[in-house]
Amino acid sequence: KGKRAFIAGVADDNGYGWAIAKSLAAAGAEILVGTWVPALNIFETSLRRGKFDESRVLPDGSLMEITKIYPLDAIYDKLEDVPEDVKSNKRYSGSSKWTVQECAESVKQDFGSIDILVHSLANGPEVSKPLLETSRNGYLAALSASSGSSLSLTYIASERIIPGYGGGMSSAKAALESDTRVLAFEAGRKHRIRVNAISAGPLRSRAAKAIGFIDTMIEYSLANAPLQKELSADEVGNTAAFLASPLASAITGAVIYVDNGLNAMGVGV
Ligand code: NAI
Repeated sequence: KGKRAFIAGVADDNGYGWAIAKSLAAAGAEILVGTWVPALNIFETSLRRGKFDESRVLPDGSLMEITKIYPLDAIYDKLEDVPEDVKSNKRYSGSSKWTVQECAESVKQDFGSIDILVHSLANGPEVSKPLLETSRNGYLAALSASSGSSLSLTYIASERIIPGYGGGMSSAKAALESDTRVLAFEAGRKHRIRVNAISAGPLRSRAAKAIGFIDTMIEYSLANAPLQKELSADEVGNTAAFLASPLASAITGAVIYVDNGLNAMGVGV
């Protein structure tokens, strides 16, 4: 029987979430996605109009099917947590049941259970500000949106200094990696669930473009990484499919680099 995967953080065909969905689909998984509420409309419309058809093609020539798209805002656990101005915001009021708890309940109601949970989202409202100038609200917002889950995407800014990755996003990734270890223990003992993170190299996604230094990071990697090629989202997708598969049955609590080896360098060349 094929596995069922829920991937949170897919709103176009440029990011890691989309590539992970494709790799999992190619391996035979059924795909459910969680899409940020404000991005839901455009994503569904583009998908329906065939805008993503070219990037939906799987290795066997068929098109990836997304069984269901759920609206999601990962910073709210339940309806009571949502402020009035968000509830009444036009971009939110058109959808319902998009808090984490309601979304999980909807998935449970529709499908009973899932086998694979991927967290491929991040949001740091003050990402372009240095940490020194980040407000408490900006910092907490970055942590709130950007940590937690069973397979997640992290960035080396958690452990090394990456100037420009601000607003508490470096802190959020550090929390995410620590949580990966502790959750691996707790969920492993309690439910035999494996919890891992992929520390990915730079990709020109929508989120990364918003930070403002992505082209510099890609150039830096090309110049300095052991493997001198641009990283493709599929390489991260394939690692995610491996980690979610029985081939990785003894891997948990791990942060796996998929970055052309850049993390291993001590100095630039
Ligand atoms: P992306 O823009 O494709 O994905 C981010 C998604 O998060 C978007 O679909 C956005 O709508 C969604 N999102 C933002 N706030 C949300 C919220 N409150 N609730 C639900 N969804 C929300 O960009 P990308 O780069 O593929 O990001 C995926 C993951 O990869 C993130 O965790 C990011 O930090 C990580 N990553 C990205 C790198 C890069 O260079 N692009 C490098 C290393 C890690």
